[in-house]
Amino acid sequence: MFADSFGRRFYYLRLSVTEICNFRCTYCLPDGYDGPPASAFLRRDELRRLMAVFAHYGTRKIRLTGGEPTIRRDLSELIGDARQTPGIERVAVTTNGYRLPTHVASWHAAGLDQINLSIDSLDPDQFQAITGHDRLREALEGLDMALTAGLTVKVNAVYMRGVNDRLGHFLHWLRDKPVTMRFIEVMETGADPGFYERHHVPLSNVRQQLLLEGWQPLVRRQDAGPAQEFWHPDYAGRIGLIMPYSPDFCTTCNRLRVSAQGKLHLCLFGDHGYDLRPWLQHDDQREDLAAVIQAALGDKKATHGLHERDTGITRHLAMLGG
Ligand code: GTP
Ligand code: 5AD
Ligand code: SF4
Repeated sequence: MFADSFGRRFYYLRLSVTEICNFRCTYCLPDGYDGPPASAFLRRDELRRLMAVFAHYGTRKIRLTGGEPTIRRDLSELIGDARQTPGIERVAVTTNGYRLPTHVASWHAAGLDQINLSIDSLDPDQFQAITGHDRLREALEGLDMALTAGLTVKVNAVYMRGVNDRLGHFLHWLRDKPVTMRFIEVMETGADPGFYERHHVPLSNVRQQLLLEGWQPLVRRQDAGPAQEFWHPDYAGRIGLIMPYSPDFCTTCNRLRVSAQGKLHLCLFGDHGYDLRPWLQHDDQREDLAAVIQAALGDKKATHGLHERDTGITRHLAMLGG
């Protein structure tokens, strides 16, 4: 079992499969970022070896993320590989929903359990202003197809002061939509530190408001992501709050990340990645790979350290897909 020196275990692997994205969300990528060529990213055989070792040492859930993972032509095959890895119980994809209606059936057939879909606004003009693309209708259509297929659907909205910080529209929609709507605090990125200053809102106020309105906290699963989730008897949907700047955010850290180029990142924050690629070339390297990962885990810190420095920066958000 992979564990760190604080006894945290890692049930959840977030695997970036490309650094390239076809959207330009205001909070995420700067204009003009192209990323490296597709040949720089881990191949399917390398990803298969990586998933097998993580699963052997305790990983139960794999999320394929990006960049935008649907940029990869072999995404359905990668979903299938994850699903067929012994020990893996849940396979999820985080996507911006681009061409979602075209993909849902093949991902479902390949064994996908869950889609996390970015929808920062339910207003088409605002959606376009944030993402640079007029594709809200398609994302919502894909969302309904995913629900019909029986997939779990979670929706992500980065909650931005002065942009989309009105809960009402989302709450109305959640009355009849059986999805988990998650609001995420803006994180400061190296690409645009000023954005954080202008738009960050602590979601503790929203939490207070939800509790007053009868929303009730849910207990976290062992392999759950970082959201605090709430349900309400009058709503088909749930709400999740992701508050990385809250003081105890990291005590339940259960996830590791591997970048599209094969670097292990112990935390979303911090610059350092451990190159795993040399140990992904042959099937007989499994034990060496496991030893390299376990040794790296000795360096994992108790928290992201944002509180000591008051604020912190992640340079890897776009590259690691959160
Ligand atoms: P579930 O397991 O389905 O709840 O998903 P998740 O929240 O783990 O996955 P998703 O890819 O939807 O992540 C949503 C966003 O949460 C990411 O894009 C990040 O912005 C943020 N996030 C997820 N994990 C972490 C983390 O460990 N640290 C920080 N700071 N943010 C995270
Ligand atoms: N702050 C918070 N979340 C971010 N994401 C990307 N950039 C940021 C940021 N600056 C997250 C969003 C998006 C996912 C792909 O990455 O949740 O849905
Ligand atoms: Fe884990 Fe780092 Fe996220 Fe904290 S910020 S929960 S340590 S990955």
